[in-house]
Amino acid sequence: MKIAIIYGSDTGNTEHVAHLIQSGFGKDIVDLYDVASIDVDIFSQYSVFIFGIPTWYDGQLQSDWELMLKKMNTVHLNQRIVAVFGLGDQENWSRYFVDAMGWLAKKALACGATLVGRWPASGYDFEQSQGLVEADYFYGLALDEDQQPELTAERVSAWINQLSAEFVNSDTHLSIKNAA
Ligand SMILES: Cc1cc2nc3c(=O)[nH]c(=O)nc-3n(C[C@H](O)[C@H](O)[C@H](O)COP(=O)(O)O)c2cc1C
Repeated sequence: MKIAIIYGSDTGNTEHVAHLIQSGFGKDIVDLYDVASIDVDIFSQYSVFIFGIPTWYDGQLQSDWELMLKKMNTVHLNQRIVAVFGLGDQENWSRYFVDAMGWLAKKALACGATLVGRWPASGYDFEQSQGLVEADYFYGLALDEDQQPELTAERVSAWINQLSAEFVNSDTHLSIKNAA
């Protein structure tokens, strides 16, 4: 199974985490792409994706992802497994914490993807977030390199373990669906 990590990053934090995740899974199975330098044909080349996005300017998508999302209107992600991770700042943007992760997850779902990798919202302190799928869970891994950089490595490592199990389960599910 090959995995594609696709990230957008303005000041390098999300790019840094993308590399951490790639190293965690192993470079032999994970290919890394900056969303600014790829096109939508990438979505036909893999069946498992990890999308990484920071939130900017009061709940906005990172600009390169914003362009990609417009192009994704014609993309189908059926039979594709997607996990998302999002970077934000829970103290200075407490009402918009990791909003972009929510926008991206909703787009992946609208394109037909199977979403895995939900992450508990405990251990963070924020007012509001579009990154929440329900009260106690984010759509994916929320990271805060501004306020909690010391927690990133252990969060990433735990998420990789979680994803490893979920990818296998989803894969089985998909192969059953494919065979039907
Ligand atoms: C001007 C500005 C606006 C920001 N807006 C938000 C926001 O709305 N929500 C949030 O959670 N984080 C916000 N952040 C924090 C960034 O998402 C955070 O620093 C992130 O790690 C940047 O990732 P990058 O280096 O990959 O671009 C903002 C940061 C700056 C400097």
